[in-house]
Amino acid sequence: MIQDVTKLNTLLEISNIVHSTLEVNSVVNLILGTVTEALKADAGTLLLMNKDHQLYFRVTEKGEEIKNLKPRMEKDIEAWVATSGESVLIPERDKLGRFKDRLKDVVDFKIGSLICVPLGLEDKRIGSLEVVNKEGKPVFTEIEEDFLKEIAHHVVNSIRNAKLYAKASQENKGLKEILELKHTIIGESRSVKETLSLIGKVSGTKVSVLITGETGVGKELVARAIHENSPVKDGPFVEINCAAIPDTLLESELFGYEKGAFTGAAYTRKGKFELADGGTLFLDEIGSMSLMAQAKILRVLQERKFERVGGQRMITTDARIIAATNIDILETIKRGGFREDLYYRLNEINIYLLPLRDRKEDIPFLIEHFIEEFNSELNRDVKRVSDVAIKHLMGYEWFGNVRELRSAIKRAMILMEGDVIHLEHLPFEVRFISEEVNGGVIPSLEEMEREHILKALAYTDWNKTQTAQLLKISRPTLDKKIKTYGLVVKQK
Ligand SMILES: Nc1ncnc2c1ncn2[C@@H]1O[C@H](COP(=O)(O)OP(=O)(O)OP(=O)(O)O)[C@@H](O)[C@H]1O
Ligand SMILES: [Mg+2]
Repeated sequence: MIQDVTKLNTLLEISNIVHSTLEVNSVVNLILGTVTEALKADAGTLLLMNKDHQLYFRVTEKGEEIKNLKPRMEKDIEAWVATSGESVLIPERDKLGRFKDRLKDVVDFKIGSLICVPLGLEDKRIGSLEVVNKEGKPVFTEIEEDFLKEIAHHVVNSIRNAKLYAKASQENKGLKEILELKHTIIGESRSVKETLSLIGKVSGTKVSVLITGETGVGKELVARAIHENSPVKDGPFVEINCAAIPDTLLESELFGYEKGAFTGAAYTRKGKFELADGGTLFLDEIGSMSLMAQAKILRVLQERKFERVGGQRMITTDARIIAATNIDILETIKRGGFREDLYYRLNEINIYLLPLRDRKEDIPFLIEHFIEEFNSELNRDVKRVSDVAIKHLMGYEWFGNVRELRSAIKRAMILMEGDVIHLEHLPFEVRFISEEVNGGVIPSLEEMEREHILKALAYTDWNKTQTAQLLKISRPTLDKKIKTYGLVVKQK
């Protein structure tokens, strides 16, 4: 029996594979390793068909590729499942029937039980996934079969991504280097570099890109960068926030309307699809779209034409589609809240943006960038962030990601005087991260003195004579320190 935790972990691991590699061979191998381990199977095979229905075949035992064989449709269980779309559960050796002999070639042990499930949907079958156990081992049951089916669903997605990626890379070979990209995406982490390379690869093609990641990670920025580097860069970039539009208005927003189509339609108006013609349509927050809206968008994506509300004429659109969401869309599909067919249409290539807390090395570069941005916006000359403040900025978890960091810097620069951002200029939650997260930072003597003077000033409500007395220093010394440290009365 598989535990729920194991199930969940396996699905998570597979989803990580999807995000971590885009090479078909590695995806296949990693998935097989994970699947055989989760089901405690002795071996697994993943069979893939190419578009001419030619098959290629992989076998792994304990996660390692051991053979590459050519299957025969009529005799091979994997080929049969791949083409028929039916899954097979064979609990014990006696029931292997006609497949018994062939399986001998595949693994060099006697097979006891076996499960094989198809990969892909009705008209788009791409192969099969199988696990086998040695004779004498616990037999597989319907529970494992259901689980394998669930895994198969994710596998299809990752393989599709990997294949499209390979196609996109080929189409763009040598065309674009990251260096040539026009963008404002800051960061030196591996993850940011991979994102830039992906942008370079997809921007020249027409594949639909789905950008995923938590709120504030930079999805819109990436969407704009794809547009800016695409052949339609001189065309419009039209954005629609799918979550913000009620169903009743959505149709006219998307497709426009003819004069007189309904009460209040005093003139003809173009919809977003029409406005984006010759450019890019950015469908933001697609995860919150109603099922009705999803059906409508899917139709246009399939047919590439639509009518205005109240209109008769078919209008065609060749807008490039980029979509984004910050919710777990696979989970939403499982719950029936998002159409799987629309998902595949939008997600020909997935760009997943890591949360900022998982690429903290980008933080100093982002800070520098935002200081520069606000120096010019606020007409300031802020030079740097104090060591202690940096430690806190690096230690904080940033659940609002880059957007939250940007606001924190802006806030500090509005509150402060002088040219150094200090701890007290940072938001409460950043100042008070735990010692543990903070790695037990020991502030410098100057930082401590600064903090201490500030505390005393706050205590006396900025009465400098009283403060000097409290601190047992002269009033001129206090004045000098206030000036050196750039201390100012906190704004309420
Ligand atoms: N790598 C980056 N370099 C510079 N600025 C960034 C970067 N990532 C994000 N930002 C900035 O952070 C803010 C949030 O980014 P953006 O709006 O693209 O996030 P999002 O993922 O679309 O968020 P949401 O899911 O909430 O819509 C923007 O001001 C953006 O310019
Ligand atoms: Mg956004």
